[in-house]
Amino acid sequence: MKPAFLLLCMIALLIGKPTLGAVSQMTKQPDSVYLFSYSTEKDAGRGGLYFAWSTDQENWTPIGPEFRFLFCDYGRWGAEKRLVTPFLFQAPDGIWHCVWSLNEHTGTFAHAESKDLIYWQPQTYPIVMKNNNCLQPEVSFNNGQYRISWISDKSGKQQAFYVTTTDFKNYSSAKEMPLKDRLNFRKEVSISGKNETGTIRKVAWELVESLLNKQKLNAYRDQQWSESAKTDSLRFASLKNLDATITVDNSKSKKISDILVGVFFEDINYAADGGLYAELLQNRDFEYALSDKEGNDKTWNNRKAWHLNGSGAPFSIDSVSPIHPNNAHYAALNIDKVGAGLVNEGYDGIAIKAGEKYNFSVFVSNPDKKGKKLVVRLIGKDGENYGETTVSANSSGWKKLETILIAKQTATDAQLEIVPQTTGSIELDMISLFPQNTFKGHKNGLRTDLAQTIANIHPRFVRFPGGCVAHGDGLGNIYRWKNTVGPLESRKPQKNLWGYHQTAGLGYFEYFQFCEDIGAAPLPVIAAGVPCQNSATGGAGQQGGIPMCDMDNYVQDVLDLIEWANGDVKTKWGKIRAEAGHPKPFNLKYVGIGNEDLINDIFEERFTMIYKAVKEKHPEITVIGTVGPTFEGTDYVEGWKIATKLGVPMVDEHYYQSPGWFINNQDFYDKYDRSKPKVYLGEYASWGSTIYNSLSEALYLTSLERNGDVVSMASYAPMLAKEGHTQWNPDLIYFNNTEVKPTVDYFVQQLYGQNSGDTYLKSDVKLSDENESVRKRVAVSVVRDSKSNDLIVKMVNMLPVAVSTRLKLDGVSNINPSAMLTVLTGNPGDKTANPVTGTMSVSNDFPCTLPAYSFTVIRIKTK
Ligand code: AHR
Repeated sequence: MKPAFLLLCMIALLIGKPTLGAVSQMTKQPDSVYLFSYSTEKDAGRGGLYFAWSTDQENWTPIGPEFRFLFCDYGRWGAEKRLVTPFLFQAPDGIWHCVWSLNEHTGTFAHAESKDLIYWQPQTYPIVMKNNNCLQPEVSFNNGQYRISWISDKSGKQQAFYVTTTDFKNYSSAKEMPLKDRLNFRKEVSISGKNETGTIRKVAWELVESLLNKQKLNAYRDQQWSESAKTDSLRFASLKNLDATITVDNSKSKKISDILVGVFFEDINYAADGGLYAELLQNRDFEYALSDKEGNDKTWNNRKAWHLNGSGAPFSIDSVSPIHPNNAHYAALNIDKVGAGLVNEGYDGIAIKAGEKYNFSVFVSNPDKKGKKLVVRLIGKDGENYGETTVSANSSGWKKLETILIAKQTATDAQLEIVPQTTGSIELDMISLFPQNTFKGHKNGLRTDLAQTIANIHPRFVRFPGGCVAHGDGLGNIYRWKNTVGPLESRKPQKNLWGYHQTAGLGYFEYFQFCEDIGAAPLPVIAAGVPCQNSATGGAGQQGGIPMCDMDNYVQDVLDLIEWANGDVKTKWGKIRAEAGHPKPFNLKYVGIGNEDLINDIFEERFTMIYKAVKEKHPEITVIGTVGPTFEGTDYVEGWKIATKLGVPMVDEHYYQSPGWFINNQDFYDKYDRSKPKVYLGEYASWGSTIYNSLSEALYLTSLERNGDVVSMASYAPMLAKEGHTQWNPDLIYFNNTEVKPTVDYFVQQLYGQNSGDTYLKSDVKLSDENESVRKRVAVSVVRDSKSNDLIVKMVNMLPVAVSTRLKLDGVSNINPSAMLTVLTGNPGDKTANPVTGTMSVSNDFPCTLPAYSFTVIRIKTK
């Protein structure tokens, strides 16, 4: 796009309609034109709402073409989100209403409204039919009432129904009407040689012009945001090495957050069970269920990861007298002939190390009241014995037995076998094998290597347990913290929204303990009384919320969490914490309420209840609200409105974007209103795991430090991913059973975590080439850490050429001439690189060369 034209578009967008009118007069545009609104059949409405315009209703010019002005939010991610047969209608008050059908079977239509056809208010999905569908909805207005009618044909015959409303919130009940009374206003027009069906409205040219400008601005943004290492080779083909002078002004500083860099842990990609949680046996409690994977995997059942070695001891799953109602299933063996063993395969095998000790435990019951001896052994695929021990089970009711296994050799694919030595019946549950070597040696603890890798970031906080896991797939799947504390056998396992199983073995106690171990603030996220906006279950989109009659109890659960974490041992929940082994309070300061929720009335009502209750009872707690899954759009705007109205101290923003987005949005927070809620950038990442991605994040993080007075916290997402079990890429740290593989993005997080400060110093960068695309790719942030009094200079060079800098530290005294220098660099497409650390000489004025595609950190002692 030509810069001059772009400027015109920008000015027009900024100044609004009067200017647009003036532009159209100047350019002799028509006063009014026809606007056609439609969605396409080729993708069954999945693309969203499109527009085309015409002066004569014959020749139609598509906007975009097929630029999406409205996207349906209903249902789970992907195929379910459809905007079918949209009907656009302008009410006498000038507000545009769009109603559409969601699919061929639901008795629900969708509604959204907009002043300008660009920004749309939250969508609603009124359930108007119980056992019938809702097709081709249309709207009319009469005597202050809107009438929405539709066709239903699920019963085999076509019928027309309607409801009335004055506000699109409350509707009359559905009534049948004669089919002939329908408006049948939809028309078929030809757009680029293809027939499309939709509604035609006569509108002012200015409206169409604003739609065109919106599309052009987006096209321009898309072009910028798609800038990549590949396009760099053209863009910077003739660029030569550059010079830069960076002047740091010690007298111009501001306080910034001292907890900016943290981590976000979610049980996604097998991050918990099979990952950070050190349990080596899979499905230890026989609670895996077909429903975890919605029946798509027939092997995913109570027997998953278990099999019988040998014969003569048939193994079944029983649920007649469980250890605890939350843990209903167990294995029942009838041993006719001694020799057969029950084998667990672990998660992709069990990794053991020669000489290491493993804690084995099992709940056993002998329904035949005959005591039994069990041989417990680690075996190889071909029956090799990697270590064995025996336990005796004498109780007829459930009893926990414990023993230690010592591995005779190192193996990555061991299995655990339990061989009863006596005939008769025996029942087994909660069969567990833990390395003794867990992080900080805790029982029921965490994998040392993974936990240490996280700790090495020096995160100031840990957000858990999700993400989408926190608010769950439908109301029944909301993560309830109380189900995850207490004895393991009483915890309530459930389906993991990411399509596997959650044991809750890594529960709230373990999360808080981990935070304490690594000196990070715990940041639990509680659902805002609504499940994930992409829920597959629940009906009518998200959605719904916890019934209002149950909300008091839900709010109480949140208050109880605070008491559990911080209360004195004499309080009800403080006592429970103490009994679990932690009499000292956990010092909880932050609670997140909600995660990327659909911001609608259902959300607002519940969020407000929870927020007000916490604020009243625990004013010392910083509540973090939610503003949707991205950096713009309805949830973002409405979420911010609610948070601002309620005075919520902080909101959680999320965005996953291209490196080009991060490069071109470094001013994102420069324009944030400092009097409004602070920001927790709870989830962000650029799409990929290359040096180029990591540098775009490093570049953007300089802007987060610069805005550390409004951005209080930030965490890359997701953090952990087990190879072969990922539902989401990229992630920060990949791993398998024996190796941890930090990405280059990890090293950026680590360098920021290890080199954070609490004061930001103004710096000025003068480059020998002032071209905007060059300027954007060199970023600097200078902070001071008041604990060490160190001055930390971070410099990112995303250019294909080196930048010879001269660093001037104005007004900085007591500079120790030997500083620590760390450089992370590589080819932009590289996926591996290690930061290299050394020393360098520094003074109030010193040179430093930033290699092409590099991130440089200089840590200077000043006392
Ligand atoms: O980080 C992965 C997912 O991304 C989170 O669960 C969710 O909050 C977001 O959509």
